[in-house]
Amino acid sequence: MPKKVTKAIFPVAGLGTRFLPATKSVPKEIMTLVDRPLVQYAIDEARAAGIKEFIFVTSRGKGALEDYFDHSPILEQELRKKGKDDLLAILKNTNMDSGEIAYIRQHKALGLGHAVWCARRLIGNEPFAVILPDDVIAAEKPCLQQMVEAYQETGGNMVAAMEVPPEKISSYGVLDVKEDKGSIVSVKGMVEKPPADQAPSNLAVIGRYILSPSILQNLNKMKSGAGGEIQLTDAIAQEINNPDGQGVFGYRFRGQRFDCGSKAGFLQATVSFALSRADLRDDLYRYLQEVVEIDQAAQ
Ligand code: G1P
Repeated sequence: MPKKVTKAIFPVAGLGTRFLPATKSVPKEIMTLVDRPLVQYAIDEARAAGIKEFIFVTSRGKGALEDYFDHSPILEQELRKKGKDDLLAILKNTNMDSGEIAYIRQHKALGLGHAVWCARRLIGNEPFAVILPDDVIAAEKPCLQQMVEAYQETGGNMVAAMEVPPEKISSYGVLDVKEDKGSIVSVKGMVEKPPADQAPSNLAVIGRYILSPSILQNLNKMKSGAGGEIQLTDAIAQEINNPDGQGVFGYRFRGQRFDCGSKAGFLQATVSFALSRADLRDDLYRYLQEVVEIDQAAQ
């Protein structure tokens, strides 16, 4: 039985330039889907999967993230005075116990592999999860929880995977499949952002990983790869041919993934999450219908 996964790394050092000017002063991860920041979705998913230690790899200008997970005594006192217990309960979900959360700075933007490597001393010699908060996944059973369960059978290294259209494949890490067993695939190769005509499949890596500590050793020796950055994909791919390694698996999760690193994906997630909320659904649905009707009439 593989060791339990209790630590997760959240790489949040990116500049978020695709969302400028908003991200000039607000970290991208604090931007909200309906009324919760992106990062809250990631934390909730990690908790559901049994994660107990949350490691954020940040960069300059991400102070708002630390404040977000802190207690807010004045606000809490004010809400208590006014008897707003419902709002206090909402805030409670955002608080972390002391020692539960750690922040490490990535001092140079050297890539996702480098960001994960920055957390190596906090991980030590145990398996760990990585969650990219940009990839928001709506699912009945949270994606990382599905993966932790599958990982109990496979051990080794596991990445979330999803088929994407051929014209989009060059934006992802891509799996070369050895054996396809439905939700779990074993992997014989992995390549970061290949040109479409060189992609080994259309099965893309999505931002959820369960990794063995040997990945951190691989990252110790890593040179830059695609885009001149130190790639996590390359460090995972090294495990495929490691005679002492336990292999690499892709996991086709059940759920809907939104690419909240792009404006279109962010908007789609906003609409989808709002429609799933009883307090917002009817009004928004009616409004969307109106918009479509007006648009169709104008054509
Ligand atoms: C990162 C990974 C890539 C993965 C993607 C999923 O790329 O490097 O392998 O497919 O996340 O969202 P990024 O989107 O940060 O360029």
